[in-house]
Amino acid sequence: MANWQKIGSVEELKKKSLQEVKVGEKTFAISFLNNRFAAIDGICNHSGGPLGKGTIDPKTGHIKCPWHNWKYECESGKGEPPYQDFQVPIYALKIEEGNLMIDVEARTERVKEKSKDWSFLTPPKRKKGDKIRVLGISCTNMDFKNPRYSTSDALLDWGLANLRKVEVRKYNLGKMNIVPCEGYYSKDKSACTFPCTITQFNSKDEMWKIYQGLLWADVICISTPVRWGQASSLYYKMQERMNSIENQIDHYDQTPEDIEHSIALKNKVVCMIVTGGQDNIQSVMGELMRFWGQLGCRFPVLPMVGHSRGWSAEDMDHNVDFVKKSNRLRKEVDEMFERALRDVIEPK
Ligand code: FES
Repeated sequence: MANWQKIGSVEELKKKSLQEVKVGEKTFAISFLNNRFAAIDGICNHSGGPLGKGTIDPKTGHIKCPWHNWKYECESGKGEPPYQDFQVPIYALKIEEGNLMIDVEARTERVKEKSKDWSFLTPPKRKKGDKIRVLGISCTNMDFKNPRYSTSDALLDWGLANLRKVEVRKYNLGKMNIVPCEGYYSKDKSACTFPCTITQFNSKDEMWKIYQGLLWADVICISTPVRWGQASSLYYKMQERMNSIENQIDHYDQTPEDIEHSIALKNKVVCMIVTGGQDNIQSVMGELMRFWGQLGCRFPVLPMVGHSRGWSAEDMDHNVDFVKKSNRLRKEVDEMFERALRDVIEPK
């Protein structure tokens, strides 16, 4: 049954080619193109973006979602080719006494594309007796066809190779295609989705491996060189893409129960290896702890191994030699992993 409701004055509504209108609980995208009004549902099929706040192409009549650019034809609500089988509802309009009226009962159904199965990006179920899982993430970059000795990567390899009775995975960010964060969060907190929208739509992007590894692991070890007093740029590329994990926690309107439920990396044990020719090791470690702590991770006692030659002895030829020969550094890495594993078995 029709349920006509007043939207507003035709003369006012004509001033914008696209606008968002709310009537009761419902949100509509009202367009005015070629002297015709049309109404489609204001909520995007993808992640609920506000279609009425998007843009309209006057040539094709397609409304573009402001969040991730999905398009819908303004009269039929159908997706742009080849997605025309998917649609948002459309609504009837009429003009009465200078006012635009809308029948808030939809004339067509919402038809969504079957979403891809993202269950591989959920925390795997643990069975009693499962081994502890350790993930190493090496953030050093180099020409991998002509590799050089990386002190941070070598110490990580050393530590992982010495682990017994655990499952180990390692990723080298320098060998992976991690697409930089596109900053959807800056449009709206809900536009930053998990899995990240880049993961959903860019098949070449490999950040999904990191997401999967992080959810899989009990212990996460980050190894990074110091670059101008900071972690490597590859580390930050990964960290930015983890906004999509952090963002699921950090909504101000969430209840404590929601927050508890949404901390995907809660209580994962994080440790780190930070090496460099110059100093600032402690600052880099502090920065890493700030970030991973914000994600709900915890740290063993002394969660880090650091090494640098310092400001006045930046003799990198000796630095590499020093690390190659340093039994002390290797022992420290082994002990750090021991503390991290103990923290999984007997959390403090
Ligand atoms: S394109 Fe509309 S919410 Fe993503």
